Amino acid sequence: MILFINACVRSDSRTKRLADALLSKLDGEVTELKLEDVDFKVTDEEFLKRRDSLLADKKFDDDSFALARQFAEADTIVIAAPYWDLSFPASLKHYIEHINAMGITFEYTPEGFPKPLCKANKLYYVMTAGGGLVPEEYGFGYIKELAQSFYGIKDVQLIKATGLDIVGADIEAIMSKAESDIRI
Ligand SMILES: Cc1cc2nc3c(=O)[nH]c(=O)nc-3n(C[C@H](O)[C@H](O)[C@H](O)COP(=O)(O)O)c2cc1C
Repeated sequence: MILFINACVRSDSRTKRLADALLSKLDGEVTELKLEDVDFKVTDEEFLKRRDSLLADKKFDDDSFALARQFAEADTIVIAAPYWDLSFPASLKHYIEHINAMGITFEYTPEGFPKPLCKANKLYYVMTAGGGLVPEEYGFGYIKELAQSFYGIKDVQLIKATGLDIVGADIEAIMSKAESDIRI
């Protein structure tokens, strides 16, 4: 199963367009999770207490861990996220707070290092950016570190189109090139 985590917001999203071009090249059933449609609980103290208690009791089949189980069981992960404020939309961070459940997506060794529990061996991160200054460390770089260190997904690939909001940019040319550059 390919899990498509869709953090795009706009109805004419360029990031979604690029992600669709990638998905059309991948083999396998695609399950889309549109983050905008997920009614995330606020990660407040009550939420954390309940979660800690469920995890301590190894109640991994609780409904609140459905997203974490889905992530852990996927064969391939595709994340689509527009480049926002050097990073990505808050919905994606909220999602990560929900799937980082100890005992489901990862656990810790006695020495304090994460030990991955996920099945996937490939993660694609698809993004588009408006400008030309697009450092990767707070968006793609952060997801890559999580994927490799916590989830055990070593093969992490960035697919991107940038400069889309620069005055005079040939948006169609940039997007077409990004689509034809996709290698899976
Ligand atoms: C809230 C917000 C923050 C943004 N921050 C950045 C940014 O830091 N750097 C940049 O180059 N573009 C930024 N942009 C522009 C988007 O990255 C660009 O328009 C992108 O293609 C949007 O993707 P979409 O078409 O999938 O919505 C921002 C756009 C929005 C709405």
